Amino acid sequence: MARMRAKKNIPDRLEKCKERWFEFPATNKGQWRGVCNKDSETKVFLEIGCGKGKFACETASKNPGVLYIAMERDTSVTLAAIEKAHTMEVPDLYFVNADAQFIETYFANEEIDRIYINFCDPWSRKNKPKRRLTYRDYLETYKRILKPNGQIFFKTDDEPLFEFSLEEFKATGFTFNAVTYDLHSSEFNEDNVRTEFEQKFADQGIKIKGAIVTSPSK
Ligand SMILES: C[S@@+](CC[C@H](N)C(=O)[O-])C[C@H]1O[C@@H](n2cnc3c(N)ncnc32)[C@H](O)[C@@H]1O
Repeated sequence: MARMRAKKNIPDRLEKCKERWFEFPATNKGQWRGVCNKDSETKVFLEIGCGKGKFACETASKNPGVLYIAMERDTSVTLAAIEKAHTMEVPDLYFVNADAQFIETYFANEEIDRIYINFCDPWSRKNKPKRRLTYRDYLETYKRILKPNGQIFFKTDDEPLFEFSLEEFKATGFTFNAVTYDLHSSEFNEDNVRTEFEQKFADQGIKIKGAIVTSPSK
């Protein structure tokens, strides 16, 4: 289980926003709604690899009533995201500082309604596709924690990663609701929230690819 490591200033900074993170998030497994004072009907959205939290803050703000959990393995990046949420006073947004490879340590079967994966590392230079957050072993874990018909919203700048991910979604039984190779020119742009990386790539003229897929029924 990942824990916030003791780094300079981190305890003081965390203390100011301690209501947004959990020292032992694994103890919330299967009980996130209750622990966060939500009823059993509340939808839970989980973002994996949230970076500095722009997307999490804006998406949680746009979806009042949803319980939004953002997972990030880098401690100082997580802290930056927590501070952003605190400054923006975003309701119902919590953070888990942990690695997605242990996602089932933190979330129970069918606990999650929707997963966001935005601009995950393509691992192309080192040719390590098994590390991609859309590799089939990861998708199998997402299938278990998602409710029946739960969805994954995926975005990337990287075309080989996108093609790979579409194949992995197909191979693991997800069905496609939407696929675009130019999100910002598509019908989905109106509701799209840009991430930090997305804005950077868009400024470079790189087209953003995106897919929405639904988990197979169990
Ligand atoms: C390329 S950045 C994208 C950040 C953000 N989603 C965006 O679009 O601006 C990828 C982020 O995912 C995090 N990450 C990578 N692998 C992860 C994993 N296995 N578990 C949790 N976070 C991970 C990295 O630390 C990094 O902050």
